Amino acid sequence: MSTHENITAQSLTTFVHRFIPASAPATAQQQVPTLLLLHGTGGNEEDLLSLGNMLFPGAALLSPRGNVLENGMPRFFRRLAEGVFDLEDLRQRTQELTAFVRAAAEAYHFDPSNVIAVGYSNGANIAASMLLASPGVLRGAILLRPMVPFIPEQLPDLATTAVFVSAGRMDPIVPMAQTEQLIQLLKRAGANVRVHWLNGGHGISHEDVRAARSWLATI
Ligand code: MLT
Repeated sequence: MSTHENITAQSLTTFVHRFIPASAPATAQQQVPTLLLLHGTGGNEEDLLSLGNMLFPGAALLSPRGNVLENGMPRFFRRLAEGVFDLEDLRQRTQELTAFVRAAAEAYHFDPSNVIAVGYSNGANIAASMLLASPGVLRGAILLRPMVPFIPEQLPDLATTAVFVSAGRMDPIVPMAQTEQLIQLLKRAGANVRVHWLNGGHGISHEDVRAARSWLATI
C-alpha cells in the first residue's frame, strides 16, 4: 500500500459511518450529488438517511457519526456549555471531517466536487464550520437550525457555494440574531444564501423538508 493509500484508509476509519451509493441516474439538468448527512447531538449515522432520501431520492449518502461523546451522546465537536463551543476542538474536528470526506470520495468513487452537506443542529454547526474553514470541500449546504460556529479572521471565498438555511422563529436553542449573524457572514463571504424562516422551534418539520427539497432541485 502506498503512503497516500494508507492516509486515505486511515481517514476513512476516523468515523463510524454509512455510505449508500447513488441509485438515481444523472440527467442533462443535474448530476446526482453526494449528501453528507450530519446529525444533531445524541444522533448517529442512521438518523438522517431517510431525510437524505426525501431531499434527493437516489442521491449517494455519506453519513458519519460524530466522534465526541457528551454524556454518552455523539456530537461533532466539544462544547463548554449550551451554545459555547470549544474552538480548538472545533478546528481539529472540522479538519478531521474534511479529510474523511476526501478519503470517502476516493474510497467510494464519488465526485468530490459535488458534495452537499445536510446538517441538523450540531451537524449544521460543523457543516457551517467546514464552509468557513475549508471552502471548496462542499458544493453546497443545507443548514437546519444552525448557529455561528466561529468567526474567521479572514473571510473565505464562497462565491461558488450555495447555502440553504432553515430556522425557527421560536427556536429556544438558536436565537434569531444568531441565525441572522451566520447568514450575514456567509453572504459577506460571497455565498449564494437562501433563507427559510418558519414558525417552529428546534425540531425538523415537514416544512423544512419541503423547502430544502425545492431549493436542492434548483442548484
Ligand atoms: C451545538 O452545541 O452545536 C448547538 O448548541 C446545537 C446543539 O447541539 O444543541
